[in-house]
Amino acid sequence: MKQEYTVIILAAGKGSRMHTDCPKQFLDLAGKPVICYSLDTFEKSPVDHIILVSGEESLEYCRTEIVEKYGFQKVRNIVAGGKERYDSVWAGLQCVKSDYVLIHDGARPFVTQNIIHRTMSEVAREGSCVVGMPVKDTIKIIDQKNYAIRTPDRNQLWQVQTPQAFATEKIRAAYAEVLGMKHTGDVITDDAMILERATGENVKLIEGSYQNIKITTKEDLLIAEALINFR
Ligand code: CTP
Ligand code: MG
Repeated sequence: MKQEYTVIILAAGKGSRMHTDCPKQFLDLAGKPVICYSLDTFEKSPVDHIILVSGEESLEYCRTEIVEKYGFQKVRNIVAGGKERYDSVWAGLQCVKSDYVLIHDGARPFVTQNIIHRTMSEVAREGSCVVGMPVKDTIKIIDQKNYAIRTPDRNQLWQVQTPQAFATEKIRAAYAEVLGMKHTGDVITDDAMILERATGENVKLIEGSYQNIKITTKEDLLIAEALINFR
C-alpha cells in the first residue's frame, strides 16, 4: 500500500511579538498573505493532504479568502486551534488519517520542495525527524540576573525549524500522554519535545535551510521581502 502523508499547517497564533492587529500569518508579503507561501509549496509537493489550523475567528476568512481564492485543492479540513501551539497541533492531529504527518509553522513561508522531499524520506526511515540548522552565533545560558553561567559547545547546537515529521500514531500517543500531564514543567515550543518527553526517543535532525525563517518580529518581514527578491 502506498504510504500517505498529511501536513498540518499552523495558523492559529496571535503573533504577539509582531505587534500588528492582523496576525502575522495573514499579513501581506509581496502581494499575497504569508500563509499562502507554505500552502502553495505543500500543494505542489508529494504530500497528499493538508490540514489548516486557524483561530476560531479566522476559519471563514481562511476558507473563502485563502483556500477558495487561491484554489488549494489538497486542503481537507480547516479546524480551530487552541491557546498554545501544542493545543493547535493537537486539534490538527484529530483529523489526520495517513501513516505520516508533517507539522509546519504557517509563519515559515520559505520551506522548499527539497526540504519536504528529504523530510518525507527521512520520516519513513526513522519514524520521526525534524528540520533545523547549525546555530551561527555563540549561545549562552543565563541566570535570572542575566549573568552567563554556561556556554554550550556550538558544534552541538542546532536551531530547530519546521517541518517536523512523525509516524502519526506515535506522535498522537505522545501528545495524548504529555497533554494529559498536569504540569509539564517548562514551556513546550516544538513537537520533538513532546516525543522526547513521552518516550525518551532521540529525534533525528536533518538540514533545512537558513532561508527557512519564521516570521516573528517586524524585521523578519523585511528579511522575507529581501529573500523573495533574492530568489
Ligand atoms: N500557532 C498556532 N496556535 C497557537 C500558537 C501558535 O497555530 N496557539 C502557530 C503560529 O500561527 C505559527 C507557529 O505556530 O505559525 C509558530 O508559532 P509562533 O511563531 O510562536 O507564533 P505566535 O504564537 O502567533 O507568535 P507569538 O509567540 O509572538 O505570539
Ligand atoms: Mg508563540
